[in-house]
Amino acid sequence: PQVTFIAFDGTEHTVDARDGDSLMLAAVNNGVPGIDADCGGGCACATCHVFVESDWASKTGVADPMEVSMLQLAEGVTDTSRLSCQITVDDSMDGLRVRMPESQH
Ligand code: FES
Repeated sequence: PQVTFIAFDGTEHTVDARDGDSLMLAAVNNGVPGIDADCGGGCACATCHVFVESDWASKTGVADPMEVSMLQLAEGVTDTSRLSCQITVDDSMDGLRVRMPESQH
């Protein structure tokens, strides 16, 4: 599936994600700036913070309690905040669009 990461300044990067990979890996494997993923996907760093556009929230699901507590360390958290390492991409997410916060610009 193709997913699009939108930087704080509006720059868009659309990449091919592999079914079953995390959204964070799709960014890192394709060199998308702004997703540092310092902890390598362990839900322990919050440098993979994204905002899921509202039409897509039903597909990406909700954060589990560990993700919710880690998100408290991220800047600019909103109701649409997720850690991209905790979202598993599947084919139903083709066209997914997520935004990145100012702190990851
Ligand atoms: Fe560290 Fe997602 S990569 S919390």
